[in-house]
Amino acid sequence: MNQITINEYLSLYLDKEFKQITNLANFVAIIKEMIENLNWVGIYLYDGKELYLGPFQGKAAVQTIPMGEGVCGTAAKTKEMIVVDDVHAYEGHIACDDASNAEIVIPILVNGTLLGVLDIDSPVHHRFGQETINTIQKAVDFLFDFL
Ligand code: SME
Repeated sequence: MNQITINEYLSLYLDKEFKQITNLANFVAIIKEMIENLNWVGIYLYDGKELYLGPFQGKAAVQTIPMGEGVCGTAAKTKEMIVVDDVHAYEGHIACDDASNAEIVIPILVNGTLLGVLDIDSPVHHRFGQETINTIQKAVDFLFDFL
């Protein structure tokens, strides 16, 4: 029997009828469950001034991140995805979990407006190759329909 895909799984849990935070909470849970070798998956939301911690799966993390700081604040400010092969070599990286070695941060833009960023950490260096990026991007694109 074929394994369920991430987007099929998401379609079972995301619905416009639910509050945004509920959809985001299930989104991060599904990413964490379905993609191998991840230790932290979460959303930092933007309040118009800075990023603040939203739904996540993993260890307790920094509550707020100023725009332009760390990987998350930089991705939020530039509105560009950032892939970090080795977080220890990224100047300004904000460490939340000692297990993290690689990271990807994808800005979430709704009609061009910054909602927040999706932050994913892995204990495996160079974890976020093109295939994984495509899978995550497809899931994020799917999420957009529910925001
Ligand atoms: N590493 C992030 C901070 C958040 S934790 O990884 C959960 C950063 O540098 O922005």
